[in-house]
Amino acid sequence: MSELSNRVALVTGASRGLGRATALRLAELGARVIVHYGASRDAADTLAAEIRAKGGQADVLGADLAAPDGGHKLADAVKALGIARLDVLVANAGIAEMQPIETQTVESFDRQFAVNVRSPFFLVQQLLPILGEGSSVIFLSSVVARVAFDGTAIYSATKGAVEVLTRNLAKELGPRGIRVNAIAPGAIDTDMAQDFLGTEESREFVKGMQALKRIGQPEDIADAVALLASDRSRWIDGRSIEVSGGSNL
Ligand SMILES: NC(=O)c1ccc[n+]([C@@H]2O[C@H](COP(=O)([O-])OP(=O)(O)OC[C@H]3O[C@@H](n4cnc5c(N)ncnc54)[C@H](OP(=O)(O)O)[C@@H]3O)[C@@H](O)[C@H]2O)c1
Repeated sequence: MSELSNRVALVTGASRGLGRATALRLAELGARVIVHYGASRDAADTLAAEIRAKGGQADVLGADLAAPDGGHKLADAVKALGIARLDVLVANAGIAEMQPIETQTVESFDRQFAVNVRSPFFLVQQLLPILGEGSSVIFLSSVVARVAFDGTAIYSATKGAVEVLTRNLAKELGPRGIRVNAIAPGAIDTDMAQDFLGTEESREFVKGMQALKRIGQPEDIADAVALLASDRSRWIDGRSIEVSGGSNL
C-alpha cells in the first residue's frame, strides 16, 4: 500500500508549476487528487488525464481565487464531490507582481493579497467541516518572507502574512488534530520565476545566492510538500520550512 492511499488531497493552482508537480507526486503516492485551476482549464484536464493514465484518481475543479468568494466557491465544489473528509489541503495558487515602489498600484496590492492570503484563509475556514484529526494543511510561503529583494515588497508581505497565518491557524486548529505548515521555496523554475530566472545571467546570480549550485525544480518542492502531507511529519506543526538549496545562508 502506498503512503497516501485512501487519502484525498486538494491542490490549488495545480494546472501549472509547483502545484502541478505536487499534484502528480501526491497521486503517485496513492492520494485521490483534486486538481484546482484558475484560468488554465485545459492544462488541469491534461494533468488529471495523466494521473488517471498512471492508475491514479483525479477530479478537476475551477475557481477564481482572486474573487472575494473564490475560496467559498471552491470549498462548496469540493464538498459537492461528496467527499467525507479532506486529508490534505495544499493552498499553492499564487501570483507575484514585482515592480519598483514608484510603479506599484493599489489594484496590484489588493490582487496579490486576495490570491495569496485571503483565499487560503477562507478556503481553510470553508473546508473545516471536512478537515479533521490527521488532516494536513500546507501553505506556500517563500524565501522572500525572510530575505528582502528589490521590487518584491508587496509579494513578500503576502508571504509574511502566510507565515503568520500558518502559526496562528496551527494553534487554533491543533486541538482538532489538524496540522498547518508552510513550505518556503527559493527560486524554482516555473512560469512565475521567469522574471528572475529568465536569462543565463539571472540564473547564475540565483545560483550564486545558494549553497547548492543548481536551479531548483518543481519536483524539489513537491517532495517537501509530500513529506508534510504524510504521517511522517506528524510532529511538525505551525512551521514554515525553507526549501531553497541553502539560499542566502
Ligand atoms: N516559483 C518560485 O520561484 C516560487 C518561489 C517561492 C514561492 N512560490 C509560490 O509557490 C506557489 C506556486 O508558484 P508557481 O511558481 O508554481 O506559480 P505559477 O507557475 O505562476 O502557477 C501559479 C498557479 O496559481 C494559479 N492561480 C494564479 N492566480 C489564480 C487565481 N486568481 N485563481 C485561481 N488560481 C490562480 C494558476 O492557475 P491558472 O493558470 O489555472 O490560472 C497556476 O496554477 C505560489 O504561491 C508562489 O507564490 C513560488
